[in-house]
Amino acid sequence: MSDEPEVELEARLAEQESFDPPSSFTDQANVTDADVRESFAEEWPECWEAAADLLTWDEPYATVLDDSNPPFYEWFTGGSLNASANCLDRHVENGSKNRAAIKWEGEPGETRTYTYGDLLNEVEAFAAALRDLGVEEDDVVTLYLPMIPELPIAMLACARIGAPHSVVFAGFSADALATRMNAAESEYLVTCDGYYRRGDALNHKEKADKGLRGVDHDVETVVVDRLGDELKHFLGASAHDYGDLVDEHAGASVEPVSRDAEDMLFLMYTSGTTGEPKGVKHTTGGYLAYTAWTSRAVLDVKPEDTYWCAADIGWITGHSYIVYGPLALGTTTMMYEGTPDYPERDRLWELVETNDVDVFYTAPTAIRAFMKWGSEYPERRDLSSLRLLGTVGEPINPRAWKWYYKHIGDEGCPIVDTWWQTETGGMMVTTLPGIDTMKPGSAGPPLPGIDATVVDTDGEPVEPGNAGYLTVQQPWPGMLRTLYNNDERFIDEYWREYSDTDSDDPEDWVYFPEDGAKLDDDGYITVLGRVDDVINVSGHRLGTMEIESAIVGVSGVAEAAVVGGTHDVKGEAVYAYVILEDGQEASDAMYDRVVEGVEGAIGPIARPEEVIFTPELPKTRSGKIMRRLLEDVASGDELGDTSTLRNPAVVEEIQSRVSEE
Ligand code: PRX
Repeated sequence: MSDEPEVELEARLAEQESFDPPSSFTDQANVTDADVRESFAEEWPECWEAAADLLTWDEPYATVLDDSNPPFYEWFTGGSLNASANCLDRHVENGSKNRAAIKWEGEPGETRTYTYGDLLNEVEAFAAALRDLGVEEDDVVTLYLPMIPELPIAMLACARIGAPHSVVFAGFSADALATRMNAAESEYLVTCDGYYRRGDALNHKEKADKGLRGVDHDVETVVVDRLGDELKHFLGASAHDYGDLVDEHAGASVEPVSRDAEDMLFLMYTSGTTGEPKGVKHTTGGYLAYTAWTSRAVLDVKPEDTYWCAADIGWITGHSYIVYGPLALGTTTMMYEGTPDYPERDRLWELVETNDVDVFYTAPTAIRAFMKWGSEYPERRDLSSLRLLGTVGEPINPRAWKWYYKHIGDEGCPIVDTWWQTETGGMMVTTLPGIDTMKPGSAGPPLPGIDATVVDTDGEPVEPGNAGYLTVQQPWPGMLRTLYNNDERFIDEYWREYSDTDSDDPEDWVYFPEDGAKLDDDGYITVLGRVDDVINVSGHRLGTMEIESAIVGVSGVAEAAVVGGTHDVKGEAVYAYVILEDGQEASDAMYDRVVEGVEGAIGPIARPEEVIFTPELPKTRSGKIMRRLLEDVASGDELGDTSTLRNPAVVEEIQSRVSEE
């Protein structure tokens, strides 16, 4: 790192609006063909054979895309394959048996390395055990595990026997676990005793047990012993110890089940406009091909790399870019259990140094925290192994982008700002690091083969320089196929806005991701954020309705409105405006009950930054809550027009209460 003072760096970088990838990168990049977007457009949809070619198929597919029944598109129809065989067996057979597949570090500092050979053995043993427990093809297995190797092992074991997994983020509450298990009618749960967070052993099993009490059917449970003597736990009648199961089935050989390309690989619940989480369904062929292709083209992953996506596998980023994409390509993928500031704020950089990490992928919220902590932490470590950096999850402002570029990448690593969603399965809008100029703050052009278009309220493409709504006008292999057991909601949520839903012509069907965006003059897309009632806290997607119903569930609360307010590190934070029932007092105890209500229903990630008790909510004459106004108050912004309010005086009242807190 140079000794250039921060002030000069800021001044110099602040001027610069675009950055070209260095030749040291482009000379070795996986994708260097500057015409790749044109050639994909000309050959669409056959262009996606390039993605399918990265996989090993049991049966070759007959058709690349079947679009005869939009929006229920099918990709690689007629083909069959197994995801675990693609992530494991073929690498073992092709001479990579002894290459590290997963390098894991626990928060206390212990490490584990699984070679492809080791990983295959344990996946087979656990797959055999799951079968013995009664898991059959198409049974949904819920995985409620933190960042320990048993999580990807369980995912791949499920994939091996054709049982879709539904991973529930370990930070989610017992109630959230129960809701998801009930919705998926999932009769199997893999969980653990606990895990480490900032030096403390957290009891996870207690939460899982509490969740199970809310499940309306019988469940077989497997418990991983992560903490050993640190936390004793007891197994009930329908619970099994993971270690014992793997020992009993050691050496088992489990033939990977050949799955149809369109068979479900997994379900992932995510937040939407209503209080009910949505079960996003991803399939075996299209999803795996798409995550492998984007890992190769955008993250430039090579088999000999040590690659690190510092996300949690409980979210889609971890599914696609810690587990499936990287393992399909046969690289070494890193996992870290703990937080970035434990025991010190250089923990991630220490991991980069000691593991010679080549590619690092994280979220803007983390970058903003690193910035706040200061450059002295990355400076303590040798980060020269890094070749490429990535970000995902929320818009990154140019200042954070430039900090990342300078202090982590030493001005020598391209940055890919990747826009995508749980529903898209993989990246959709981003620069290709071997080809494209980068512009801080703008994600970039759509990927080859992706028709991402910014439109106005009528669905017409906007002129360059204008803002509108992001849409995707053609299907892509990684797309969700439906919402679990709810085709109607699938159409309502993603298609109705801009499609002619009576038409069976795919041209009339347009996917709406519910993000606002600006089309830059050069065709780059700057994503502005959600336009629905979803807020993005530290890159985690939360539905305001879910939080509101948790608050209204607290006794004494009459009404609640939850909005996102801007926050330095989290991007957005939860602000809860709460009206109490008559006779209830806005006390500290009530404040705590509201916070506990939210944590109990969803988890600490949804914890309100502030609870503001108010006698009324600002409403329009037609009775609609003016959320925009509540957002302005939360963010400390100048207030928009209040003239349409039925009760304008309440705004001042609310403002005075916020400033009191
Ligand atoms: O608003 C967009 C934002 O995150 C949302 C998707 O959230 P989720 O399904 O949880 O997936 C997150 C990880 C893929 C999007 O609708 N988002 C994601 N990436 C970006 C982004 N906003 C701006 N820039 C990005 N690079």
